[in-house]
Amino acid sequence: MHENVRSLPILKPLKPLGEALLFAGNFLRHPNMLGSIIPSSRFLVEQVLESVDFGRARVIVEYGPGVGTFTGEILRRMRGDARLVALETNRDFVRFLTRTLPDPRLTVVHDSAAEVQTVLGRLGLAAPRYIISGIPLGSMPDPVRTEIAEQSRAALEPGGAFLVYQFTARALPTLERTFGAVERSRERRNFPPAQLFLCTAPA
Ligand SMILES: C[S@@+](CC[C@H](N)C(=O)[O-])C[C@H]1O[C@@H](n2cnc3c(N)ncnc32)[C@H](O)[C@@H]1O
Repeated sequence: MHENVRSLPILKPLKPLGEALLFAGNFLRHPNMLGSIIPSSRFLVEQVLESVDFGRARVIVEYGPGVGTFTGEILRRMRGDARLVALETNRDFVRFLTRTLPDPRLTVVHDSAAEVQTVLGRLGLAAPRYIISGIPLGSMPDPVRTEIAEQSRAALEPGGAFLVYQFTARALPTLERTFGAVERSRERRNFPPAQLFLCTAPA
């Protein structure tokens, strides 16, 4: 597209509209994998990222970036020398993110959260300080949910955190079994209202 056309202000609203349509279309095809028909709100992004000490984080992992609602904001806040690895099972979202977020600090991987340790090993990255997860753990079969929780705990650096946002508390028993005490909060201004679970790996 010609640069002058790209910068026309009237075309700016088309970007969020395109993201919303891509997200909603995929929700209709894979409702259980997405868990919501619209991406997360800025309120939820703000509340989840409040727990992240970006000055300290050299490696961050995101599960289920979707159209990049968290991803863009994580990149905006993250250190210049930090790395973000986003694991996404939906091929459309992987293509979309690779095209729209060409940041050398970001690696988008078409794989499941359950493969986090294998993927980090393949990329030769250190253990992450944070794993930020928007995948619908609550609607997964218990063995899959348990596998993802255990892999996440094992992948984190000592004292690192697994930050989970969900629309139900169904994943809570698994998180408590895997991490011990879990700090809970809510973001009611999100649609649907979201629950946040902050799980800390042993120091
Ligand atoms: C509720 S959407 C969240 C999207 C985005 N993070 C947001 O907050 O708007 C859940 C995302 O998780 C992805 N997903 C589901 N299961 C996954 C898994 N096992 N590993 C990685 N991504 C997964 C879906 O394809 C979808 O993009």
